[in-house]
Amino acid sequence: MLTVYNEWKADLFYNEKNCISCHMETVEREIVPGYGIKKNHRHYFPGSGISKFDTVEAVGLKDIEFYASSMQKTYASIDSFYYELILKNEYAGNKVPSGDPERFYNIRIAVKDETDSIIQQTNRRMGEE
Ligand code: HEC
Repeated sequence: MLTVYNEWKADLFYNEKNCISCHMETVEREIVPGYGIKKNHRHYFPGSGISKFDTVEAVGLKDIEFYASSMQKTYASIDSFYYELILKNEYAGNKVPSGDPERFYNIRIAVKDETDSIIQQTNRRMGEE
């Protein structure tokens, strides 16, 4: 958690949002019967969307924005094209992925022919090595 804290301190959201504003949804509810409805926060602490308890539904927060080159639907076998995919951490106040050093994103881009067979493929890993 100390690593995540340091990630947040170095992040653009540092002066704007804190752990609570992103991870602990504000709700109005009565926690103690008879004491009325008050503003408080949920404690599920959603993040990656991987559930921590089998009794709690996993909720993933939006973290990355994808920017991809536009493409034609099909290309002739002699055509060539340039494709760029940019993944930008625009919404998380820490690195993506964060929290668990074993988590990573596997980005796979495949080019298929008309029979749906892969003719070229590239894999990129995003996460701690
Ligand atoms: C601007 C919003 C934002 C702020 C501020 C923020 N986070 Fe996050 N955090 C996210 C998002 C979005 C993810 C999901 C990224 C991912 O897949 O790891 C995430 C992921 C995490 C994870 C991994 C969760 C999991 O399910 O494995 C942890 C732990 C975490 N944050 C802790 C913190 C702590 C502690 C702070 C404050 C020091 C903080 N975050 C501040 C948005 C935020």
